[in-house]
Amino acid sequence: MTATENATPGAPIELRAVSKSFGPRKVLEECSFKVTAGTAFVLLGRSGTGKSVTLKLICGLIKPDAGAVFVNGEDITPLDSNALAVTRKHLGFLFQTAALFDSISVGENVAFPLRRRAEKPDPEIRNRAAELLESVGLGNEYDTMPSELSGGMRKRAGLARALAVEPSILLVDEPSAGLDPITSSEIDQLLLKIKTQQKTTLVIVTHNIPSARRVGDRFAFLDGGRLLAEGTADELTASENPLVRDFMKSQQAG
Ligand SMILES: Nc1ncnc2c1ncn2[C@@H]1O[C@H](COP(=O)(O)OP(=O)(O)O)[C@@H](O)[C@H]1O
Ligand SMILES: [Mg+2]
Repeated sequence: MTATENATPGAPIELRAVSKSFGPRKVLEECSFKVTAGTAFVLLGRSGTGKSVTLKLICGLIKPDAGAVFVNGEDITPLDSNALAVTRKHLGFLFQTAALFDSISVGENVAFPLRRRAEKPDPEIRNRAAELLESVGLGNEYDTMPSELSGGMRKRAGLARALAVEPSILLVDEPSAGLDPITSSEIDQLLLKIKTQQKTTLVIVTHNIPSARRVGDRFAFLDGGRLLAEGTADELTASENPLVRDFMKSQQAG
């Protein structure tokens, strides 16, 4: 971090003038936003507008071409993979597909990040994984194989695994994808619980406006590489930009 580039206090996540292209395709152009500690920031936008890319930039899986990405006060853009591994200790990531390992049990999936850290003896790790499964309503599924889980249960298991590292920041990519409305709303309740009880800072990517409204505090609409609007759900619904307004309204029934 250079002396002139300081993170905004109270914002564990901040993108400052971030640009990212893949070949000739510009995905983000001088994109900036910050997320206040303990709040849920929702990134909205059509498919292919760079929402998942933004999450991957925040966890350092991809590097921007220009700009700064601050995570817990530190610009992670110049960090090498060892230093990134340290900053990722505070990050949980729930991928769209939940990305469970299919060859090990649900419980061992949740235990995996704890085993990798090797900070605790085995019985403690098992107990902690069981506790986490309990907290997402999968208390009886420790020995179940992932292939036997429904989509909603997979998502819960993925959430339990993301929470194993006790992240101060949780990144969630399309929590509603592939889920029915009731299951989706149950996942939202879990995300809300994580935000209010553990004071976790959330960044959630979603197309699902009812879901976004349940969990989100602030919302941003990404299009053409830029944030076209940022504010509360009501502010975006009343946006002067018809694209933003229509997006908020068209999805209201979903
Ligand atoms: N690793 C990559 N290599 C090349 N192009 C990519 C890569 N990741 C994303 N893209 C492109 O960037 C654009 C934004 O992708 P993404 O962030 O996944 O969109 P979404 O808003 O649907 O999540 C898409 O055009 C996608 O094809
Ligand atoms: Mg995506």
